[in-house]
Amino acid sequence: MATDIQVITKFAPAKRTAWKALEAHYRRVRELHLRNLFADDPTRGERMVAHGAGIHLDYSKNRITDQTLKLLIQLAEESGLQARIDAMFRGEKINTTEKRAVLHVALRAPRGASIFVDGVNVVPQVHTVLERMSHFCNRVRSGDWKGCTGKRIRHVINIGIGGSDLGPVMAHEALRHYSDRSMTFQFVSNVDGTAFVEAVRDCDPAETLFIVSSKTFTASETMTNARTARSWLLAGLNGDEKSVANHFVAISMNAADVAQFGIDTRNMFEFWEWVGGRYSLGSAIGLSTMLDIGPRNFLALLDGLHQMDMHFLSTPFERNMPVLMGLLTVWYNNLFGAQTVAVLPYEQYLHRFPAYLQQLTMESNGKHVTAIGTEVTQSTSPIYWGEPGTNCQHSFYQLLHQGTRLVPCDFIVFGRSLNSLGRHHDMLVGNAFAQAEALAFGKTTEEVKAEGIADWLTPHRVFEGNQPSNMIFAERLTPETLGQLVALYEHSVFTQGVTWNINSFDQWGVELGEALAGQIIPELEAMEEPQLAHDSSTNGLIRRYRSLKDAS
Ligand code: F6P
Repeated sequence: MATDIQVITKFAPAKRTAWKALEAHYRRVRELHLRNLFADDPTRGERMVAHGAGIHLDYSKNRITDQTLKLLIQLAEESGLQARIDAMFRGEKINTTEKRAVLHVALRAPRGASIFVDGVNVVPQVHTVLERMSHFCNRVRSGDWKGCTGKRIRHVINIGIGGSDLGPVMAHEALRHYSDRSMTFQFVSNVDGTAFVEAVRDCDPAETLFIVSSKTFTASETMTNARTARSWLLAGLNGDEKSVANHFVAISMNAADVAQFGIDTRNMFEFWEWVGGRYSLGSAIGLSTMLDIGPRNFLALLDGLHQMDMHFLSTPFERNMPVLMGLLTVWYNNLFGAQTVAVLPYEQYLHRFPAYLQQLTMESNGKHVTAIGTEVTQSTSPIYWGEPGTNCQHSFYQLLHQGTRLVPCDFIVFGRSLNSLGRHHDMLVGNAFAQAEALAFGKTTEEVKAEGIADWLTPHRVFEGNQPSNMIFAERLTPETLGQLVALYEHSVFTQGVTWNINSFDQWGVELGEALAGQIIPELEAMEEPQLAHDSSTNGLIRRYRSLKDAS
């Protein structure tokens, strides 16, 4: 069996003839307008769809032909996508720079499945932790787990950052409909003290549970907030050190530092090196989610993730939704030079979904070298951004409709509302469909003139159209659907990374700024004027800050 590094080398970008073919093809089709593509093929909207794992994807409003799809799939094949997918699911160390397996798929594998890392089947460990989490959550939710004064837990505060925060926040917001409203949930991530102060403002320490979520238990923001939380708790509970046991739990793979912090490791929920932070929603990092929606719903979330994993693993590329979405992103990113992807959930509960995707997509694929360390020859990750509809229509849609940039859009729509209220849902969905239609087909000069618009105003009223979009459609937002959606994007990211031959699973780019902050913070805090050896701008800013601080 080829090792992953052999697979990576074998499928190096230079060996991919599909890129050349795609470039030639792009030159032929780049001017094609969606108006003509639809007019020439009345079945396009029925043909260019894919379904599976609870999701219906309509990708017909993309600037593609059947030949484009063929070439994109050829690119995936030449990139060794299936071999890379298989390697990931087999537990090979595809995160080559950190020499780690990448097994978020094991977190949602059913009991009885076998996935091996270094000869050990990790699935039983996953289920042991899930059982411990369920037991704990049932105790807290039923009031059996009490604070040190005997009061039940009413406030849960997750302290974490990056993947130890964005998934839990997003899931909390997305699944509010399913949440236990007798408890409040807050998420403290920023080292800005305001985040902590505002989170605990209305909390009684005797009723508050902190979840310190950190894979490494070293992230400086998390550890600073955790120490502040500890002091706040002790100050509110007469300095009773024993209270930490009832009011703190940890999620980490670093048992030594958890113990050192003072959290009983019996109150620690483990996860593993082979779970990347931004892929950790289904791990113990989801403890706040499980507390919020209950173990049964959390298992449904895992099931949704698993359904999409299976779809990704075994569906032919032509019908494989994460593969199609990943390849379409590559098409716009690398051929059209589009710089962004807008994610537009027409579902208020998904308002944090674009923010969550930013780490998933950009920390994964914002890379400048290939997996073998050579400079990439193409652009890598586009910038993901977005806001929920219909609000976004009244902020940035002007640019989408009449600006000068190509912005591929992902609309996310549900057939049924969780809060049906008069005409609201019909209006919401009608807007999503209408916007996708308007973006694709626009409004020509002739159409504007036919409305009797004055000549001088006509150019201002024209919509060029030809803005591509995907319509991601599911029945209803449930924990299961959320899992399907998350895995859809996770695997789209993987597909993109494979075509660029980059390692989507490391994040060395976060280190330099952190290291410099480690130098600058003591310079801001020094009692004596420090000797500064930065550039003149940074030196000046440090001095300015010190003088303002001294004046306060
Ligand atoms: O931003 C860098 C990063 O390492 C992320 O990948 C991770 O999700 C986050 O920091 C938090 O790390 P930890 O869970 O170890 O505190």
